[in-house]
Amino acid sequence: MKNITANELRKMWLDFFAEKGHAVISSASLIPENDPTVLFTTAGMHPLVPYLLGEKHPAGTRLTDVQKCVRTGDIDEVGDNSHCTFFEMLGNWSLGDYFKKEMIPWSYEFLTSPKYLGLDPERLAVSVFAGDEDCPRDEESARLWEEQGIARDRIFFLPKENNWWGPAGITGPCGPDSEMFIDTGKPKCCDECSPACDCGKYLEIWNDVFMQFNKTAEGTYEPLQQKNVDTGMGLERTLCTLHGKKSVYETDVFAPIIGAIESIGDKKYGESEEATRAIRIVADHVRTSVFIIGDEKGVLCSNVDQGYILRRLLRRAVRYAKSLNIPTGKLSVVAEAVIDEYKEVYPELAVNHDRVIGEINAEEERFEKTLTNGMREFEKLCNYLVGDTISGKASFKLFDTYGFPIEMTIELAREHGLKVNVDDFNKAFEEHRKKSQAGAEQKFKGGLADHSETTTRLHTATHLMHKALKIVLNDENANQKGSNITEERLRFDFTFPRAMTPEEVKEVEKLVNEAIAADVEITCEEMTVEEAKAQGAVGLFTAKYGEKVKVYTMGTFSKEICGGPHAKRTGELGHFRIVKEQSSSAGVRRIKAVLE
Ligand code: SER
Repeated sequence: MKNITANELRKMWLDFFAEKGHAVISSASLIPENDPTVLFTTAGMHPLVPYLLGEKHPAGTRLTDVQKCVRTGDIDEVGDNSHCTFFEMLGNWSLGDYFKKEMIPWSYEFLTSPKYLGLDPERLAVSVFAGDEDCPRDEESARLWEEQGIARDRIFFLPKENNWWGPAGITGPCGPDSEMFIDTGKPKCCDECSPACDCGKYLEIWNDVFMQFNKTAEGTYEPLQQKNVDTGMGLERTLCTLHGKKSVYETDVFAPIIGAIESIGDKKYGESEEATRAIRIVADHVRTSVFIIGDEKGVLCSNVDQGYILRRLLRRAVRYAKSLNIPTGKLSVVAEAVIDEYKEVYPELAVNHDRVIGEINAEEERFEKTLTNGMREFEKLCNYLVGDTISGKASFKLFDTYGFPIEMTIELAREHGLKVNVDDFNKAFEEHRKKSQAGAEQKFKGGLADHSETTTRLHTATHLMHKALKIVLNDENANQKGSNITEERLRFDFTFPRAMTPEEVKEVEKLVNEAIAADVEITCEEMTVEEAKAQGAVGLFTAKYGEKVKVYTMGTFSKEICGGPHAKRTGELGHFRIVKEQSSSAGVRRIKAVLE
């Protein structure tokens, strides 16, 4: 087995697919663009959804990348051997280009060739789709694996539950997949032992999705106009498996981060179960926080959406740092280690270094003020509690007065053998939200897979408004911080230091409506980032040198880098109206607007 590092694996992956004619594209932001269904980019394919649905990608039909991803559904599991809230996904895509007969031999080559991972074919097992009413049994993939040299008894036919990749949101591109596993050599757990059981004999390292369907809102599967391939290999997990480590936290990825934690606390990884768990939690949560704050569209702590997840991560990290006797204000030492380790691959971390360190210090300080008193309050609660359930009212007080995220109260309660009345907490929270008008916004239908005419028009209106804001506010730095579009409205966050006046709001509406009335054609051109910049296009310039992007031009009014899709002419949009202009976070304003 090759003893490769994370850096070597990233490079090996990109080189392999570049050799097979793939364009190497940059990781997209962790904050999804125009997608209200999820808070973070959860898989390599997520930013590519529009292209999997048929939109043309400027870099071509064969793409490869290393994508930063955040999945926070299992925050509470972090601390065990395998869970992480941040991970990197190595991926390659065919956008209506090659399909199974190319992908399976390539997968075999990458896994077994001595030039690449050099795994012993005898140690590989694969699974393919068993077939059901939506999609036939995947005999073709099984045959292709057999032709490569995988014995039939190492090819497992599994149902949708195991061998189907579903969309990130509610609707979107999906299809049967073929997964690849390392057989650890452990004995079979039972006669039916397969990669579907979690006995630990088979460890998944790669997933080839044959994306041929679009899952509709009604739950049906309609064939896509193009057949795609979407593959994903988790970087941390693969390193762990390749090196035969028992935990991802023991790979080279975590070594400097854990080293930093050990240097500021008085516990060592491995000295006890509690210490190991706490160190993993601090390592994971600080790493994820650094990536969220340091992202090109980075967010800060708040009580809603991504900002709330960030707050939960940091506050949980602070709590566990205490158990390692890490002095207050020292999490930044861990954050520095993360930035140092990743800044070559993700230069935005170095660019946003001060913001990352500043926000982590600030949140630590904010929480520090209330944590001790909050813990005292919690202990008091436990002592006087009748029954085994902490009331909604008490947990809301912990949240509101002491800044304890509800998840933290639940976790603390669990440690004391107690429960929390979450329903009542939610009621109290909801009342508070109504009063303060600053709510946790629910996730809407829609998202990247939503190409309905309404969302397309709202997307075009967003460009016109972005430009109008720069003109009316006379501020070239009134830049997009986030965009979120549903069937009903657009929502746009931008950097600006103060509230807009009613006159300014009217003026922006007027300019946008004039641009709509002018009914100009909307054109799309592909060019390199440098060319786009030279033409004065606005947008995020995080793509690599020479990488191609799409630039949408709306007459002489607006020019913006964007993935699309857009209306054909501005005249299609209807009447534009701003419903609300409010604060989003420090230095960021939020506008909600509709088309009527
Ligand atoms: N979408 C698939 C996954 O995330 C393959 O990239 O596993």
